[in-house]
Amino acid sequence: ADEPLVLGIETSCDETGIGIVRGHTLLANTIASSMEEHARFGGVVPEVASRAHLEAMTPTIEAALAGAGVKFSDIDAIAVTAGPGLAGALLVGVAAAKAYSLGLGVPLYGVNHLAAHVAVDQLEHGPLPRPCIALLVSGGHSSLLLVPDVAEEVISLGSTVDDAAGEAFDKVARVLGLPFPGGPYIDKAAVSGNGTAIAFPRGKIDDGTFDFSFSGLKTAVARWVEAREASGESIHVPDVAASFQEAVVDVLTRKALQACKRYDVHDLLIGGGVAANSRLRALAQERCDKAGVRLRVPRPGLCTDNGAMVATLGSDLVAAGVAPSSLEIPADSSLPI
Ligand code: KG4
Ligand code: ZN
Repeated sequence: ADEPLVLGIETSCDETGIGIVRGHTLLANTIASSMEEHARFGGVVPEVASRAHLEAMTPTIEAALAGAGVKFSDIDAIAVTAGPGLAGALLVGVAAAKAYSLGLGVPLYGVNHLAAHVAVDQLEHGPLPRPCIALLVSGGHSSLLLVPDVAEEVISLGSTVDDAAGEAFDKVARVLGLPFPGGPYIDKAAVSGNGTAIAFPRGKIDDGTFDFSFSGLKTAVARWVEAREASGESIHVPDVAASFQEAVVDVLTRKALQACKRYDVHDLLIGGGVAANSRLRALAQERCDKAGVRLRVPRPGLCTDNGAMVATLGSDLVAAGVAPSSLEIPADSSLPI
């Protein structure tokens, strides 16, 4: 095959992700997660994540190579998440990538984590339409992007001004006594609830920007629950979960489709861990159908943080003839898109 074999390294949060692709063909996507170590703290502890990455790096790379049936000497390029993310966690991945690049004598590509979340969809659905709009929603980020070309130009239209969408799910889950990370539990509880039972606020819904705000909603849910508990009333968790979830996905899908309309774009991609949300998928599909927009959502294993997304973007950079990064490239926790 002519296409380069690219190994991608992702360590921006709690997942040590190693992906191997040839062009847009996925050969391995191996993940070691330190989530269990963070669960009892109710959130990711940066120091714990960094150490876990260090311990997991070599075995995860070896497992990915074995899974793909390739050797170190077959690798043509190394791609790594350079940011944004947790500084110490990123540093482990970037240091490893530099070492492998130098040791193997292959080029290094430092990539943006958000652009990688967009690029990964190509493994499942083929080349990205140009342009497309991308809605990225996870525990660490909530962004709307205009993507003329994922390898060359990604434009931020807006992002959250406070909590990320997944963070709001996790915090509300805690209020409802559900385990961490709470997104999947809220999703499940909401199935038997009524999303119109409680009218929770929709932050920034018609403010004319593509920014999001979820902290007011989170506080509103907490106050609602506290008030009921104080008066000894029992709360119906499924209704609270469904009503909260409806408020989040209403704003996300509405702004995503407003962006499609504003930029005359007919393809919407949704990525990040929250893209696994069943109601988000259903409402996005419904609103896209109405607006004549095609919807692309990668399967859950590609939506959450992983190494394949980094390898895919690396492969696109090689194909586009973009110059490799220098070995001096820093890990940048607030790397802009
Ligand atoms: O992309 P991801 O694995 O990691 C980052 O945060 O970057 O996303 C994890 C987030 C968590 O906040 C989790 O609660 C949320 O995605 N999540 C969900 C669902 N599955 C995961 N949120 C809502 N509904 C879900 N089904
Ligand atoms: Zn992510």
